[in-house]
Amino acid sequence: MSRKAILEKYTKAALSTEPELCCSVDYRKEFKAEELDHIPEEVFERNYGCGVPPALRTLKPGENVLDLGPGLGRDCFIAARKVGPRGRVYGLDMNETMLEQARRFKEKVTARLGFDNIEFLSGRFDVRIPIPDNTVTVIFSNCVNNLAVDKETAYREMFRVLRTGSKLSFSDIVSQDDLPGALVKSERAWADCVAGVLSFRALSDVLYQSGFIGITLHTDYLWKTGPQVIEDYFDGADLDECQRSLVEKVRLYSASVEAFKPVLDPSGACYWKGHFALYRGPGASFQLDSDPEHVFAAGVLKEVCEKTATLLKAEPFASHFTVFEPQGEIEARLCVPGSRCC
Ligand SMILES: C[S@@+](CC[C@H](N)C(=O)[O-])C[C@H]1O[C@@H](n2cnc3c(N)ncnc32)[C@H](O)[C@@H]1O
Repeated sequence: MSRKAILEKYTKAALSTEPELCCSVDYRKEFKAEELDHIPEEVFERNYGCGVPPALRTLKPGENVLDLGPGLGRDCFIAARKVGPRGRVYGLDMNETMLEQARRFKEKVTARLGFDNIEFLSGRFDVRIPIPDNTVTVIFSNCVNNLAVDKETAYREMFRVLRTGSKLSFSDIVSQDDLPGALVKSERAWADCVAGVLSFRALSDVLYQSGFIGITLHTDYLWKTGPQVIEDYFDGADLDECQRSLVEKVRLYSASVEAFKPVLDPSGACYWKGHFALYRGPGASFQLDSDPEHVFAAGVLKEVCEKTATLLKAEPFASHFTVFEPQGEIEARLCVPGSRCC
């Protein structure tokens, strides 16, 4: 799919508010005034996000963070204050007009903060993120990942630049099922954050394939349904009856997604050496990765191999699991599918 349509759309959106692009939430209701009062008003007027990346609320002083597709830089500016002068905020966008505007607003923001920890970078995160391996402690984005033309490369790149044990946290549009071909072919629908979205299933698959674990997908609100999509992108003549009935079934949601880069490489052989794990909630069950054995029901003690025990003892899982160390001398046993350990 052509990047040209996306570039053209966001060049216009950088210079004046594009109301039909907005499915944003009101940041004034989501953050306290003192978290936002260093940011010029115009930045909020051109909000092209679809939610609030969960990690944006919980950043800590000293963190090194990366915002993908920051647009005018709103989320970078919020992050800059939270990570403080010892932290660093990178914003990577492929649109030079957006970057020019973001750098212009940055002058005001850093003058008000009294320090400059923000760097806007030019590039495409679905080609290469211009940051070394294992550098950032959080990656976030807001209504951007669906615009990546090459999703596999995009998520592999995110995994590469994240430090081990760190998280990816984003808001994005996600669909109930795979989108019908007629919609995926619409360039305008791509640029509007519609045609490039992945289904919940496809998104978790590409995250797992890229190496992420502990994926949580939270549906925030229903954004658009099939009939609206038909009205926005097709006039009657564009679709035959069969295509129309497929597009009518489309359901697009705004979702919050989090995923973690594990503290160790979970691939390779694993041995049970006497560890048990107990998932304490909050959910009824938790899936650690794509391995069907790695599903933990709340309140049920489960044998886990040494590697899984190590993963669960580290954050973010440690706060939801109790891991029991081996009691006495235990003979190590290879965990194979169907055995009790995982
Ligand atoms: C829908 S806007 C979201 C802007 C911002 N995150 C917000 O919440 O207002 C998408 C932004 O992502 C940028 N973008 C889209 N695809 C990109 C890619 N592959 N690499 C880098 N930036 C990209 C666009 O230029 C645009 O600034």
